[in-house]
Amino acid sequence: MSAAVMEEGCGSTGSRLLRGDRNCFSAIERRFAVFKATAAALYFGSGYAANLAVLSTFLEDGDVVFSDRLNHASLLDGMKMGKARKIIFAHSDLAALQHRVDSIMTKGQRFLVVESLFSMDGDVAPLKEYAAICKKAGIALIIDEAHAIGLYGDHGTGLIEANGIADDVFLSINPAGKALGLAGAFVAGPAWAIEYLMQHGRTFVFSTAPPPSIAAALDAALDLVEETPQLRNRLQFLTTFLRELLAGKGLEVSQAGTQIIPVLVGENARAVSMASALQAKGFDVRAIRPPTVPEGTARLRISVNTGLDESILECFAHTLEVAMREVGLP
Ligand SMILES: Cc1ncc(COP(=O)(O)O)c(C=O)c1O
Repeated sequence: MSAAVMEEGCGSTGSRLLRGDRNCFSAIERRFAVFKATAAALYFGSGYAANLAVLSTFLEDGDVVFSDRLNHASLLDGMKMGKARKIIFAHSDLAALQHRVDSIMTKGQRFLVVESLFSMDGDVAPLKEYAAICKKAGIALIIDEAHAIGLYGDHGTGLIEANGIADDVFLSINPAGKALGLAGAFVAGPAWAIEYLMQHGRTFVFSTAPPPSIAAALDAALDLVEETPQLRNRLQFLTTFLRELLAGKGLEVSQAGTQIIPVLVGENARAVSMASALQAKGFDVRAIRPPTVPEGTARLRISVNTGLDESILECFAHTLEVAMREVGLP
């Protein structure tokens, strides 16, 4: 990374379409496309910018977009900028989606936009079923893999890989700020779509390119994902370990089995007070409150990582139990 800074400097000086482009960007995009098994990829300075670009560029007048009710704010904002008619369906509700798909037609293109792993509930979308619905109805499937990239699938490329639906996905958005530990996001998909996005995605065209040295860090992060599948297995083990500990203490824990474990608290004040109690004991747990989650569903969001071990998780589960009792929760 420091060698990359010495070579390219800290800043990129302009848009990728002007002086901001560098070979290291196209090299890491080619690598990411191979990693994700798509024809091409384009790197954005943030996942937010990537989602705005994808949805404002491809959702045209006369199109229809079906969107999960719990989609991330960046997807919602992108859809607001796009010109397609928006149809919101209940969270991961296949019957509700199918009903809308059967009843809402258009001469334009229809899209389905979902996250593969939802960040606030830690649950996984029914991706295989979505792929089947989309294939049958000619709907273009767009999937945000923010919380899955680096963690799922034999090669760690995400839940698209784990579900074997790569051929049925139009575009995926792969933010690098979570498991890859960096920043920015790759949009991956067919070459024509990536080329079109590069020319028309406004957050790409009209924004200074990220610091070029990030490409070296992204390269190292992909090395790590490719070379250490044991870390993914360890994360899965620790996740199950903590879920069982919490369930053993009588806490209602979602069955999703992912690294994100929400502890529903309800009232905002209780969530804040529990988060403070945990922080005071050295656990970096944050309270998530409305409008990020629906009213009355404030929660602590626990995200397991491989820097933790069994003894830390045991201590955490005990501290959480005490914090719950202190705010009067059973
Ligand atoms: C599902 C999802 N998509 C996109 C983003 C935005 O990514 P970034 O933080 O890189 O802007 C986030 C959040 O952080 C997210 O949770």
